[in-house]
Amino acid sequence: MRKKVDFLVIGSGIAGLSYALKVADYGSVLVISKTKLGETNTSYAQGGIASVTYEPDNFEKHIEDTMIAGDYLSNPEAVRMVVENGPGQIKQLIEWGTEFDKKEDKLYDLHKEGGHSEFRILHHLDNTGFEIQRALIEKAKKHPNIELTENYYAVDIITQHHLGEITYRWRTDVECYGAYVLNEETQKVDTVLAKITMMASGGIGNIYQTTTNPTISTGDGIAMVYRAKGIIENMEFVQFHPTSLYNPKERPSFLITEAMRGYGALLRRRDGALFMEKYDKRGCLAPRDIVARAIDNEMKNTGDEFVYLDVTHKDAEETKKHFPTIYNKCLELNVDITKDMIPVVPAAHYLCGGIKVDLNGRSSIQNLYAAGECSSTGLHGANRLASNSLLEAIVYADKAAKDSLTKIDSIKHNTSIPSWNDDGTSHNEEMVLITQTNKEVEQILSNYVGIVRSNLRLKRALDRLELIYKETESLFDDSIVTQELCELRNKINVGYLIIRMAMKRKESKGLHYTIDHNTVRTKV
Ligand code: FAD
Ligand code: SIN
Repeated sequence: MRKKVDFLVIGSGIAGLSYALKVADYGSVLVISKTKLGETNTSYAQGGIASVTYEPDNFEKHIEDTMIAGDYLSNPEAVRMVVENGPGQIKQLIEWGTEFDKKEDKLYDLHKEGGHSEFRILHHLDNTGFEIQRALIEKAKKHPNIELTENYYAVDIITQHHLGEITYRWRTDVECYGAYVLNEETQKVDTVLAKITMMASGGIGNIYQTTTNPTISTGDGIAMVYRAKGIIENMEFVQFHPTSLYNPKERPSFLITEAMRGYGALLRRRDGALFMEKYDKRGCLAPRDIVARAIDNEMKNTGDEFVYLDVTHKDAEETKKHFPTIYNKCLELNVDITKDMIPVVPAAHYLCGGIKVDLNGRSSIQNLYAAGECSSTGLHGANRLASNSLLEAIVYADKAAKDSLTKIDSIKHNTSIPSWNDDGTSHNEEMVLITQTNKEVEQILSNYVGIVRSNLRLKRALDRLELIYKETESLFDDSIVTQELCELRNKINVGYLIIRMAMKRKESKGLHYTIDHNTVRTKV
């Protein structure tokens, strides 16, 4: 089947839907999601969204906190742009129906998280992302120009390559004409032609064994853009959240929000000893890379499989009121957080790098924008400040929408694009090849490319992954496409990019910590 739309949006999280809502008055919009519309990283966000709201907070403080957390690798222009545009975009989210918690005096109830010098996190209980996702879906469903689709899986973006031309990475005139999309119902690959494509495909957590991300996060957008010869950067900066609930049977790992440490929760070893002050004067509220590394180190030294997060000293009713989702979830596992300490471990959580974009969200491929977790905007530098991700997504979706509208009238559909060619392929009967290889990829990344790295570990990871890459590419060439096979291929591509970029960085910086280049942070 062939479809023609003005705007193709790959992803239904905060980045995709807020972009869709901003361009929909000016053309037809197709939003695609690989599973359910609401199954996104956005829906899982707990802590909230950082933005300057009241004094004594101000833009300069938020900028400085972001730069410090990012180990001064952030692009100052991007940081300022996001921080200063934050309040306006928060207002927009509220106008679209998102509710943030208020106090009795009707002022917003602001939380504090690691690395923030002020209380500035707007939130909805401890399930902020779910609330934002709800409001965006409701709003998008009402717009007559927006078509929302589920189980519609982008396999590759379309460029001159599909017209038989040779494309290469530094060619500046590669153009995007839409995407080939697998319809899970018909099992056919549709050709979706678009004047403008927005990549909003989210994160990569599932390349690791332990992650807070739902299963949709397999780095598809980054891999697609890489294969299409777009520029990808900063992939070595994978953020591990310090505190996911220790429950090896569960995937994704349930997050214990950083807001709980902002509220006063303390990290303790299993023997009860506090340890964070040893690592950083900000203690439990140091930036995430430092806290995750400290926990990893304590676990390695003691041989324990987890540490504890202790909130038992706080008022029980207050704790239940602020963190109802966490309270109920832990209770299911017989942990009453008002009386018992919570067993926690670090888990892969967020990718700071991705598809390189400029201040207007434009990728290096023409007519292709990227926003949200799949993009690399320069905001996060070497380590993202807590709750800056939802903010980045709405601000860049807005910038990209504005830029798209200046161009849309001058772009024509490319109707000479051929349909998907599956000649010479057959159904792959051996699912075990995919499931087993998936496990191998996750093991390689977790064992050798985790919180602490070394040259030797990275080299080993690359050698192992190269073999798997060749086997999987050959399987892909011979098989009728399936989502599982594409996801595996994408995970391998993303793993490869992380390893190569980690190998290139000959220093320890933010989230990239290697025992071979043991430098300290620029400033704390
Ligand atoms: P997502 O919300 O992940 O959406 C991705 C979309 O892309 C989905 O619709 C998916 O179906 C679609 N997709 C992907 N690949 C394909 C494909 N091949 N074809 C079709 N569709 C595709 N950040 C904060 O700022 N504050 C927080 O409190 C916070 N808490 C978090 C808690 C958890 C547990 C997690 C996992 C993340 C948290 N984050 C938080 C990070 C933040 O939620 C994400 O970075 C952000 O929501 C990403 O939004 P997005 O729109 O880029 O992607
Ligand atoms: C959390 O609630 O701890 C997650 C916040 C984030 O990832 O920004």
